[in-house]
Amino acid sequence: MQQIDKRLSQAFPPNSKNNSSYIAEIHSVLANVKIDDIGFKDIKFRTVQTKRDIAQLKLLQKEWFPINYTEQFYTAVLNGYVSSLLAEIEIKFPSGRKEKYIIGVMVYQSRQSKSKYQQNLNWKQWFCSLFQQKNALYIMTIGVINEFRGRGIAEYMIDQLKQRVLDSNKTLIYIYLDMVVYNEVAARFYQKNGFNRVGIKKNHYSIEDQQFDAYVYVWQPQ
Ligand SMILES: CC(C)(COP(=O)(O)OP(=O)(O)OC[C@H]1O[C@@H](n2cnc3c(N)ncnc32)[C@H](O)[C@@H]1OP(=O)(O)O)[C@@H](O)C(=O)NCCC(=O)NCCS
Repeated sequence: MQQIDKRLSQAFPPNSKNNSSYIAEIHSVLANVKIDDIGFKDIKFRTVQTKRDIAQLKLLQKEWFPINYTEQFYTAVLNGYVSSLLAEIEIKFPSGRKEKYIIGVMVYQSRQSKSKYQQNLNWKQWFCSLFQQKNALYIMTIGVINEFRGRGIAEYMIDQLKQRVLDSNKTLIYIYLDMVVYNEVAARFYQKNGFNRVGIKKNHYSIEDQQFDAYVYVWQPQ
């Protein structure tokens, strides 16, 4: 008999039982809203700025990822030591009260680049890369709530990073990330957005008492 996939996020292992119900407040709020009336123009993009943002982010990341992010991680996001881009919508309640809710977030940081992740390097470029200090943007996490998936929100956030690389005067040379091997939705998403699989990290993740490999995906300007 075919098993029904109950995962809300494909970042959880295929047989996981820990990801079948929502925990963030936004889902119950959306139950009373016509979601189709909310268009892309109603979504605002900005950085994480407040403790309320962090409180929402913690619950969303718990829904999206089977990994425990530390308080240091959230402090770094709030203080801007790591960079962030969130997508939010404003909900108007019948009482007239308005409240903003996060529906997508990307957390990333600038890291020293590695020549092994650069594509199409000839030996001369490879040799120079050993001495020239360049950086790359590393995507730590990216997620969009289920109700808004497939509408181009993650693609928009990735496009902002690509633009940063293109505007950086070659001080940023690629974007990269690690991704657990079984996350087929994410793999399709990155491939569709011009990322190439360039490596594998053996037993990179420890998830629900099991070890899983990670694929390394890279986007580099042509
Ligand atoms: C991966 C993720 C961030 C994509 O966000 P998104 O805003 O839906 O992505 P976009 O709308 O920009 O792109 C949609 C593409 O992603 C894939 N995709 C995203 N969600 C999907 C879903 N629920 N079912 C099937 N494909 C999906 C498809 O390839 C789709 O392409 P299509 O429009 O041609 O069908 C989102 O699915 C998510 O949050 N997943 C859970 C967390 C996660 O796995 N993060 C990535 C960790 S590396």
